[in-house]
Amino acid sequence: MYAITIPEPGGPEALVWAEVPDPVVGEGEVLVDVVSSAVNRADVLQRQGFYNPPPGASPYPGLECAGRVSAVGPGVSGWSVGDEVCALLAGGGYAEKVAVPMGQLLPVPEGVDLVTAAALPEVTATVWSNVFMVAHLRPGETLLVHGGSSGIGTMAIQLAKAVGARVAVTAGGPEKLARCAELGADILIDYREQDFVQELRRATDGAGADVILDIVGAKYLDRNVKALAVNGRLAIIGLQGGVKGELNLNALLRKRAAITATSLRGRPLDEKAAIVAAVREHVWPLIAGGVVRPIVDRSLPMPDAAEAHRVLESSAHIGKVLLRNPAA
Ligand SMILES: NC(=O)c1ccc[n+]([C@@H]2O[C@H](COP(=O)([O-])OP(=O)(O)OC[C@H]3O[C@@H](n4cnc5c(N)ncnc54)[C@H](OP(=O)(O)O)[C@@H]3O)[C@@H](O)[C@H]2O)c1
Repeated sequence: MYAITIPEPGGPEALVWAEVPDPVVGEGEVLVDVVSSAVNRADVLQRQGFYNPPPGASPYPGLECAGRVSAVGPGVSGWSVGDEVCALLAGGGYAEKVAVPMGQLLPVPEGVDLVTAAALPEVTATVWSNVFMVAHLRPGETLLVHGGSSGIGTMAIQLAKAVGARVAVTAGGPEKLARCAELGADILIDYREQDFVQELRRATDGAGADVILDIVGAKYLDRNVKALAVNGRLAIIGLQGGVKGELNLNALLRKRAAITATSLRGRPLDEKAAIVAAVREHVWPLIAGGVVRPIVDRSLPMPDAAEAHRVLESSAHIGKVLLRNPAA
């Protein structure tokens, strides 16, 4: 098969479409003929040599895919050759074939075409597990989403609105904020021009956010705690603004607030399977019902993964960037 390989870490040109051995399907795994994959920030870090795949994972980038089941390993139940699926991966999505643990497969949701389905696994699993399974966002509460126009952000806005929460977003510029508003965001904050703590307080009568989904990390730690409501929950999923921050524990204590941080990729198979099952139960019906939809900025041929990475790194996109297998 062909796959995007990284012979040497570096810039986007480090991504090379090359012939490689086919994956071997193991116990409890399913082989998927990949039709499409999608780009995630983590792929950029892997390309740069800062984020190695966890032990046992494919060496090729790609944390999600959509395609057709072409073989089923021993011990697999519930999936058959020919099934159209999408999947959460620990790697290997930028390839023509990938072996997937059966607990990480999802059917293609009703109303979504097979290529577009690759936009769903990573964002739905990340948002559902953090905002709902960990931070327990409830109807009537306020969620602040940093990076509202990102792949993650566009899904977080829609899911929070679907459960009856109020949604505040930060994004860089009016065009991105307008797209967030179209998706249902109620409070729009241009983080380049405005102070998000002040704006959020103003919009919530001083209360702040019950839950914050944060992709910035250290640079926002202090301000995120200031922006939290009493009993607030800060869920950190990204470290785009650094890893080491200073925390005023008294501020946290007075608000009886909580901070969590999770990463999906390296989690044990049973935890990923539980998250994927919850996504199938709670999110898939919302997609099938047209309440929530995948937001795709553009789709490029998989051999042009370098160009897809340039788009992601320039932050010119809104939602997800897809990669199509040219042979599928
Ligand atoms: N922990 C996990 O399991 C997990 C899983 C998936 C993703 N993630 C993380 O989630 C984040 C989003 O991922 P993605 O794939 O959706 O990436 P993406 O589409 O590339 O989005 C990154 C976004 O960050 C925004 N941004 C940059 N600086 C910001 C700031 N100071 N305040 C607010 N927004 C800012 C950019 O928007 P502007 O143009 O508006 O600046 C851009 O939309 C990444 O950090 C990724 O690593 C974590």
